[in-house]
Amino acid sequence: MAAAGVNVVRMGEFAWDRMEPVSGKFDFSLFDETIERLAAVGVKTIFCTPTATPPRWLTAGHPDWMRIEESGRRMQHGSRQHVCTNNEEFRAESRRITKALAEHFAVNPNVIGWQTDNELYCRFALCYCKSCQAGFRDWLRAKYVNIEALNKAWGAAFWSQTYRDFDQILLPHTTTSPASPNPSQELDRYRYVSDSVVEFQRQQVQVLRAARGDWFITHNGLMGNIDYWKFTEDLDFLGADIYPGFGARDAASSVATSYGQAKACSAGGNFIVPEQESGPGGQKSFMLRTSQPGVMRLWAYQSIAHGADGMMHFRWRTCRFGAEEYWCGVLDHDNVPRRRYREFSQEGSELKRIGHQILGTTVDVQAAVLCEFETDYAHETMPHGLPSPSEQGHLAYNYLSHCHLRCGVVQTQDSFEGLKFLIVPSMCLMDQSLADKLAMFVTGGGLLFVGGRSAIKDRDNHVIPQTPPGLLASVVGCTVEEYGKMEPGTLGLLAGRRHMRSGPWYEILQPRGAQVLATWQVPSNLGPWAAADGPAITINRYGEGLAMYCGTMLTQDNVAGLIDLALEHAAGISPLAQCPYPDVEIVRRQGQGRKLLFVLNHSRQRQTVRGVKGLELITDRQIDGPLEMPAFDVAIIRES
Ligand code: GAL
Repeated sequence: MAAAGVNVVRMGEFAWDRMEPVSGKFDFSLFDETIERLAAVGVKTIFCTPTATPPRWLTAGHPDWMRIEESGRRMQHGSRQHVCTNNEEFRAESRRITKALAEHFAVNPNVIGWQTDNELYCRFALCYCKSCQAGFRDWLRAKYVNIEALNKAWGAAFWSQTYRDFDQILLPHTTTSPASPNPSQELDRYRYVSDSVVEFQRQQVQVLRAARGDWFITHNGLMGNIDYWKFTEDLDFLGADIYPGFGARDAASSVATSYGQAKACSAGGNFIVPEQESGPGGQKSFMLRTSQPGVMRLWAYQSIAHGADGMMHFRWRTCRFGAEEYWCGVLDHDNVPRRRYREFSQEGSELKRIGHQILGTTVDVQAAVLCEFETDYAHETMPHGLPSPSEQGHLAYNYLSHCHLRCGVVQTQDSFEGLKFLIVPSMCLMDQSLADKLAMFVTGGGLLFVGGRSAIKDRDNHVIPQTPPGLLASVVGCTVEEYGKMEPGTLGLLAGRRHMRSGPWYEILQPRGAQVLATWQVPSNLGPWAAADGPAITINRYGEGLAMYCGTMLTQDNVAGLIDLALEHAAGISPLAQCPYPDVEIVRRQGQGRKLLFVLNHSRQRQTVRGVKGLELITDRQIDGPLEMPAFDVAIIRES
């Protein structure tokens, strides 16, 4: 490990029964010895709380601690994440083991920080156990105080759902309800599910901080059902596990992986990667592909380019037993260093040399996609088979990345300072303060793109009584006259000479001060259609900036046309470098007087990038002309 440049490891996340083989009898000797041996060669340790795997002696007497699916099926002991993190007795156990570990390691200078649990809500989040039922009711009591307020917020009069008391309330059922559940109840449930895991983690964080103040505390996400903006407030920084192999089939999808890192960055700024994919991985029912030589290192640099300040690969040596016996690590089962070890060592030695230049910088973002946990899950409560804000955001982000723009993801709670272009991808929820913030962004000179079906609901997840886009109508200078769903591509949108296809949604707009940028084109074989020649996209001058409203949704087919149309109106946005190939990703990190351009060639061919000038840090050569990028290679240029 030391020879490969490793200076930190992560351990302990599933080892509860090794730490406490019998209730109350702790044995940390294996860890003490290992931490010591690693420290002797300069490797520090991040320790993890082991609460994802409560041991058998703990679960045996407590079947009611186990997670329960909506159908009523109770999870059994024998894999991981089987116990519900909302169970109060289990929470007491979680605090107890955390305290024992924290007090034991508080005096160990080689334990430098902690990871809470492991990938909270990986695989299982929507539990129906008694604790979750009770916890949901308590959460609702705290939120609404009186039941009338809840009935109003849930529109409970519909389908006779009025409650007389909080005790009557059940968690919403989706697959085991004869018809659709109440969407406001569902949204509150998602909020509760996220808040409760934040609380579970917070209890561990408090114990760890009490034991030693200078430890950093992180967690390895990102899973669904967690509002990572709130979740990260208790941490020093977030961790994001990065397994591009789950989605990357070719160069384009490899580039697209970075949306995950951009989301991690949006939740808490620079992050670390507790687990970066090292090889093919598999559990019982699947096996990822083996990546080509160079790709493991390329993906690691992709994470770093997008804001990772710490890089750990999963895992060191492939395990010979257990459910992940084919989750390949840097070393194979036989412990022989081969191709993956050599690639890992190359990365390690490079980072050892240049890492200090990267630290202290953050990702330069000019064009961003707006995202928010609540609106994503409000969409989930009423998806109508339409693409989610996150899916549309991903398409927009990919396109910005293909254009080599400084792109990222920004959360609604964050500052929009420094942004020039902001995309609101059909975000259904809106409130006055967010609307004001968006209006301020435009007033200050920004370009806002608002996708169809945005701002149609309030925070109770009720459709607003005003004409859409409600609170955004004045900034975009238009309203929606008619809307509907249709097969994607049914209609055309014509903007000057630019032709685009509709997404699965159309809106006929009524300009109220805005200028019409594109009109609906209805193919003659469709017969009468209200949309014919009606306004489809508008643009409105508002203060110093512009707001574009787009009466459809972003799809793979129309995203380039729609974003290009917006970019025609953007001032001061230009590509980071010239490269006609979207498979070459170009990202900038900057800070402390440095500008670092990361150039990542995801394609199987050599590519050329122009317009780059400066010192290439990995090879230590001056670039002042075309930059030649071999297949799967990385360059980091300190721009001059
Ligand atoms: C993560 C997890 C690891 C390991 C890895 C490979 O989900 O944190 O413990 O399971 O993926 O599956």
